[in-house]
Amino acid sequence: MSDLKFGLTETEAETKELFKKIDKTNIPEHVAIIMDGNGRWAKEQGQDRLFGHFHGVESVRAAVEGCGELQVGYLTLYAFSTENWERPETEVNGLMELLVETIRKESESLNKNNVKMHVIGDRSMLSAFVNSELDYSLNLTRDNTGLNLILALSYSGKAEIIHAIKNIAESVKNNELAIEDINDAVIKANLYTNKFPDPELMIRTSGEQRISNFLLYQLAYSELYFTEVRWPDFRKKNLFEAILDYQNRERRFGKTSAQITSS
Ligand code: IPE
Ligand code: IPE
Ligand code: MG
Repeated sequence: MSDLKFGLTETEAETKELFKKIDKTNIPEHVAIIMDGNGRWAKEQGQDRLFGHFHGVESVRAAVEGCGELQVGYLTLYAFSTENWERPETEVNGLMELLVETIRKESESLNKNNVKMHVIGDRSMLSAFVNSELDYSLNLTRDNTGLNLILALSYSGKAEIIHAIKNIAESVKNNELAIEDINDAVIKANLYTNKFPDPELMIRTSGEQRISNFLLYQLAYSELYFTEVRWPDFRKKNLFEAILDYQNRERRFGKTSAQITSS
């Protein structure tokens, strides 16, 4: 209540309270988000799907800001899957335009905030125009040392694994690698995400409870958090709630609870 007197809105006060509750010594290093529900959100307001995508940009800003405040090291956002290419052409084009517009508008401020951008996915399916915008932002932020913001674009977890298998098979064929030496580390080194740790926490909005071809290998031991909130309504408060939920879980990695508590 006292915060309200200091001019904070109820949501801001609530966000601040949640922030305080978070254990700053147990922040996930990598948070991955399936940003879902834009279309349904728009439909609920009698608008077309692109309206929902447009409003989802504010939620991206909130997620980036919230992760920055908590010093999360890596934030991966599932922005467009290879399956999404099958959507109606107007939606695909609208999404690509929104992507370019957003990168143009946000790159400078991301750079000022020390954010380093990365892209994972099949960039050969993106237009030259989209690719050049992405390159601009990747270049601009390449030396930054703050939050690593990873955009999964034209991304497919299966395609990523197939790509890794092909690379590994090539190394075996060229006698650079023995079959006996193929292990988890070798596979990891050949994924698009080879420079990033696996996500400790994966959030999906809009109530769907599936992975939809996202980070199949990397999510092996991630904590999964599903919320009914549609992506355009997602704010820092929702991120903080997810992180608090994560902090209340016991990550056992196959061991017993007693083993975890004694160590
Ligand atoms: C997520 O929202 C954005 C993308 C997949 C690009 P959707 O567009 O999937 O919205 P719903 O799931 O149809 O509501
Ligand atoms: C997953 O959402 C892809 C992104 C959020 C970019 P979808 O809306 O495409 O997934 P499905 O079709 O519901 O599984
Ligand atoms: Mg969806």
